Amino acid sequence: MSGCCDPRGYRQVFNAAQAAKAVRAFEQKGLDGTARPMIAALRAEGFDGATVLEVGAGPATALVTLLEAGAGRAVAYDISPSYERVAGALLQGRGLTNRVEWHTGDYLASGDDRPAEVVFLNRVVCCYPDIALVGVVADRASRLLALSYPRRRWYTRSAIRMINGYLWLRRVPFRVFVHDPGAIARNVIAAGFEEVAGGASTVWEWKVWRRAA
Ligand SMILES: C[S@@+](CC[C@H](N)C(=O)[O-])C[C@H]1O[C@@H](n2cnc3c(N)ncnc32)[C@H](O)[C@@H]1O
Repeated sequence: MSGCCDPRGYRQVFNAAQAAKAVRAFEQKGLDGTARPMIAALRAEGFDGATVLEVGAGPATALVTLLEAGAGRAVAYDISPSYERVAGALLQGRGLTNRVEWHTGDYLASGDDRPAEVVFLNRVVCCYPDIALVGVVADRASRLLALSYPRRRWYTRSAIRMINGYLWLRRVPFRVFVHDPGAIARNVIAAGFEEVAGGASTVWEWKVWRRAA
């Protein structure tokens, strides 16, 4: 499958300063409000020793939490080249470098089809134009899949239109997408999953699915 995204846009938006800020927030206050309940729901299902695939791993704050909570090894992808150094420093500081295989690039374009027991994407589906990403990562998850994405409300759509207008004016080749949450769930269920947990804030919705027996 070929990629469709210009990494320059991702680097401009998800830059080193933004990555460092995210790590500082994690060290001071812990995980963000979507990653925290997603990981709690995964813990309730159990992931001791499990292999993890995180697409859009960003500053690796969720990855660190999953590994420190008992996951075995992880493969991580992020399109933005700015995250590798900051995420690498966080992983090294926590003594986790040897348990993570990090790739800078578009997961869909990578051709990597290795399965993982747990697949995790927090606030990533909205940063990728092609909803096919959902079906692909669902196919890779042999046991559990956790996704978060923006709710499809008038205010999220208006805010994202404004953000995209601003990016267009600044000539940044990156856009945000509000994919249909119903279509996301249908893609996951079609891949053989059942929902085991979910929640929502004003902006975000998250779900954890388990592969049906
Ligand atoms: C809003 S950030 C979220 C980062 C992290 N998950 C978090 O919650 O802090 C979205 C990230 O997803 C990455 N991304 C989007 N689509 C991707 C893909 N197909 N392959 C790899 N990374 C992707 C972007 O580069 C960006 O760093």
